Amino acid sequence: MARSSIICGLDIGTQNIKTLVVKREKEGLAVLNYQEVPSSGVRRGVVVYPEGVSQILRQNFLKISQESQKINSLYLNISGAHLFSSPSRGSIAVSRADQRISEEDINRVLSAAQTFSLPSNKEIFDIMPREFIVDGEKGIKEPLGLKGVRLEAEVLALGGFSPYVKNLTRAILDSGLQILDRTPSAVASARACLTEKQKELGVAILDIGAGTSDLAVFEEGDLIHLAVLPIGSANITNDVAIGFKTDIEIAERIKIEFGSCLLKNGQKKEKIELEDQGTLIFSPKELTNIVRARISEIFREINRELKKISREKFLPAGIVLTGGGAKLLGIVELAKKEFRLPARLGKPKGIAELENDPGLATVCGLVLLGQDLEGETGKPSFSTGGIGSKLKNFFKMFIP
Ligand SMILES: Nc1ncnc2c1ncn2[C@@H]1O[C@H](COP(=O)(O)OP(=O)(O)OP(=O)(O)O)[C@@H](O)[C@H]1O
Ligand SMILES: [Mg+2]
Repeated sequence: MARSSIICGLDIGTQNIKTLVVKREKEGLAVLNYQEVPSSGVRRGVVVYPEGVSQILRQNFLKISQESQKINSLYLNISGAHLFSSPSRGSIAVSRADQRISEEDINRVLSAAQTFSLPSNKEIFDIMPREFIVDGEKGIKEPLGLKGVRLEAEVLALGGFSPYVKNLTRAILDSGLQILDRTPSAVASARACLTEKQKELGVAILDIGAGTSDLAVFEEGDLIHLAVLPIGSANITNDVAIGFKTDIEIAERIKIEFGSCLLKNGQKKEKIELEDQGTLIFSPKELTNIVRARISEIFREINRELKKISREKFLPAGIVLTGGGAKLLGIVELAKKEFRLPARLGKPKGIAELENDPGLATVCGLVLLGQDLEGETGKPSFSTGGIGSKLKNFFKMFIP
């Protein structure tokens, strides 16, 4: 099949739907089209009203086809507090007479690792291999071709609440598009913002959006934990609206223009001009207190997640903050203090024209993951290809 030169990433967020279409060129990925439109039908990262999302997508992709290129299939994010990760293990007997491990054996062992009991309304949508064990020998990253009798796999299974997973799928299929792969937002953001070295050492990425804060933790190059909190930067906006007794739109403006996590002494009152309601005068100290209280709440909850996997204060490469909500002044300083870890802002890398905006981490990561999966052949490769890649098969493609 001809090498596809176009890759599309779609990030369905609580506040924004972001679509990035890139073209592979010799020098790297060139942006063909980028669209960011207000979201609708999405609550705290979950598609609750698929028709609403479909309608936006139809208009969005019509615009893209008029401006640049018709898109039929895409790489999609998935989010929401219903997502979970669960370590699992599979074991099989090597099938070939010469005892060499084949690609089919690898697929079988990963499938075996996927079969564990779940409530009927939960489903596994992805399997991330962590290591293979051949006849008791641990830590094998690439078992293909090795000789052995018994093959085991340690994996991290990713799952979610089936009705929410189906809503998301429906929203895409109903707008006439195919899904090539679904990736949790934080895992996509990690692809764009983290280096292999950070993932090897141990690192957490926290994507703070409007409605959710998505966490992914990596160690020895592999994903070891995933969690999504149903709190995000929109909570700060709501708190400001209540605290300053003002409209949401004005509260959002105040947060973006003046919001900070840093308490400073002797700050003067600030004022903003309102279109038809005169002037609003407010205390920056009060604003900082509101902002800090929410961000600290998010950090506390994230620390609880790190504690669950015994990594609280034990991540050598620290915590990387990204997502639109990470653009708050002083958030990195507060993270260093509250996590007692190195902290930095995560900006997407790998698409030259879009390297500075943390809000684009997920959509850039989706495109980069698409590029990884399609490799040189230009179509998603569904062989396992060893560690780091995901269990793929054609049944994972959703074709209307
Ligand atoms: N400069 C800024 N300072 C502070 N907050 C900002 C800034 N710019 C954007 N935000 C906040 O970032 C949030 C939007 O971020 P993003 O686009 O990553 O969210 P989303 O992907 O739509 O939501 P989610 O990932 O939670 O589903 C909004 O709450 C917005 O107020
Ligand atoms: Mg987001």
